[in-house]
Amino acid sequence: MEYNVPIKRVLISQEQIQKRAAELGEQISKDYAGKAPVIVGILRGSILFFADLVRNIKIDCSFDFMSLSSYNGGTSSSGKVRLNLDLREDIKGKDVIIVEDIVDTGLTANYLFNLLNTRQPSSIALCTMLDKPSNREIPFKPTYTAFTIENEFVIGYGLDYNEIYRNLPFIGVFDESKK
Ligand code: IMP
Ligand code: MG
Repeated sequence: MEYNVPIKRVLISQEQIQKRAAELGEQISKDYAGKAPVIVGILRGSILFFADLVRNIKIDCSFDFMSLSSYNGGTSSSGKVRLNLDLREDIKGKDVIIVEDIVDTGLTANYLFNLLNTRQPSSIALCTMLDKPSNREIPFKPTYTAFTIENEFVIGYGLDYNEIYRNLPFIGVFDESKK
């Protein structure tokens, strides 16, 4: 069966993502040795990368999830972050590792750090599948980055255009003219 998707090109393959997830999982396992971090997946975009990453974390850890949105569909940020679903567990005194699909303007990451810091965790780090540093509106440097990309709108591997294409097993550069 063929699935026609509106992309200009494949930017990053599943193999490349899984290789980087393995490397970052190893790094996190070393950096957090002796600790039991809470791995916080940001819904919905991070779940594919989250699943690849955590399979390579070789220390005790727990999972929790939050849902945030800054895009109201389309290909640019609304500039406002909305909290749709909060954590289930108390993070006071815990080491928190946020897992994101992409850091773009930096608004979501900045919002998350400010919010979670008020709950007095022992530490907070952020691991992102993609970083688009050229589109920042607020300075933010992810602790762990799988890939740094140019300022292009991408879909797949969790990333959507109007909620579609999250299921693609690769990251592609979106082509508006083909949709
Ligand atoms: P930020 O708050 O601008 O850093 O944006 C973070 C969120 O915007 C991500 O979690 C994505 O949901 C969305 N986003 C940013 N760039 C892209 C993209 O190229 N494709 C799909 N979603 C994106
Ligand atoms: Mg999104």
